[in-house]
Amino acid sequence: MFIDKNFSINSQGHLAISGIDTLTLAKKFKTPLYIIDEDSFRKQCRKIKSIMTKFYGQNSLVCFASKAFCCKEIFKIIQQEALGIDTVSIGEMFTAIEAGFNPKNIYLHGNNKSVDEIKYAIKNKIGKIVVDNFVELNLIDQIATETNSKVNVLIRVKPGVDAHVHESIKTGQISSKFGFIIPTGEALLAVKKAIMSKNINLIGIHCHIGSQIVEAAPFVLAARAMIEFLNSIKKETGQTISELNLGGGFGINYLPHEETLDIENCFKLVFSEIEKNCSKFNLKIPFIVIEPGRFLIAKAGITLYTIGCVKKIPGIKTYIFVDGGMTDNPRFALYGSVYDFCVANRANCEKTEVVSIAGKCCESGDLLGEKIKLQPAQPGDVLAVFATGAYNYSMASNYNKILKPAVVFVKNDKARLAVKRQTLEQLIENDL
Ligand code: LLP
Repeated sequence: MFIDKNFSINSQGHLAISGIDTLTLAKKFKTPLYIIDEDSFRKQCRKIKSIMTKFYGQNSLVCFASKAFCCKEIFKIIQQEALGIDTVSIGEMFTAIEAGFNPKNIYLHGNNKSVDEIKYAIKNKIGKIVVDNFVELNLIDQIATETNSKVNVLIRVKPGVDAHVHESIKTGQISSKFGFIIPTGEALLAVKKAIMSKNINLIGIHCHIGSQIVEAAPFVLAARAMIEFLNSIKKETGQTISELNLGGGFGINYLPHEETLDIENCFKLVFSEIEKNCSKFNLKIPFIVIEPGRFLIAKAGITLYTIGCVKKIPGIKTYIFVDGGMTDNPRFALYGSVYDFCVANRANCEKTEVVSIAGKCCESGDLLGEKIKLQPAQPGDVLAVFATGAYNYSMASNYNKILKPAVVFVKNDKARLAVKRQTLEQLIENDL
């Protein structure tokens, strides 16, 4: 059983994605190779949009968190699907604008935006800036005044919700580096300052409690805390805040039988919490924005590698070496993340081996997985890793001067190159 319906095994026993033999793709585009199934990505966009519309009608917006996967091709598709985007740096904004993305539908995040980033956002008429701290609030006000512009902002707050996920990807608790604290009055002070600033237009409040969350409860708690905060704002300032951005974080299953979030039920519970609390406080239901990244793109992607040596350490373990590793997928090294693997040219064989999959970096922690059940593999075989669409390409590095892989999109039996493989010349192009 595969993680997504878009995978199959063809008559040669090879793994196919969207009907295309992965061996053909590996041969044509070389490995390591990221592959995105366009229809699978579009399907997820439509699914989440239709659930949002079911509960909130037109009073809602889905933004793709572009940190999950950022290249020009994806922005073109997102625009066609009528989603907004969440960006977090000048680089992400630039890539989107170069792709022709409407800046009005771009949000700028980040906990330490530079002067250049704020200037770039204002100059390019980025729709909304999500403010993280007082330094930034002052800076935005100052730059807006200097440039005689009016900037739409949201205030990012910590709702004080602890999502039970890996330490590195939780962000809703008070100790988080992101946003203003509600209980100490810090967040309210930020709101008041924003209201008082002539060149700032306070549109909404924002929270994001973490990533890869597979239960609805933390989202419901966050929604409640946010509506309570909207009520405090109204009581203290008389202002009604029109937009509530609840961030992303909707988890997926990385293994075929793993627990996953029932997204429709989650949104239903969140919506009824919002409705209940808005009616309790006599507030109008705000415009609701969400920012999923992983949920939209993770399962649309796979990575192909060529297997090199199969190194057996008698009585201890067997390593399968691949021609990539933590440079194109650092998630196992960072979070101990799990993945489903398959020897693409032996996809119809049983998984009888237990192996460790290691990359080519000079680093013992350069692994993609341990104790992995896999088909028997030989040098020259092609290894496929599933659900690598999110936070792989976008987190790739040039450690050990390893080249970043190419990205190919597949659709209707056709494959097209979206990002070229890095070249050796590009590795040193900035060296003087
Ligand atoms: N909105 C904000 C403000 C965020 O910081 C993030 C993710 C998202 C939305 C999207 O979260 P998602 O729906 O994709 O879970 N590198 C880690 C994930 C870090 C997420 C950072 N922020 C990983 O590979 O698991």
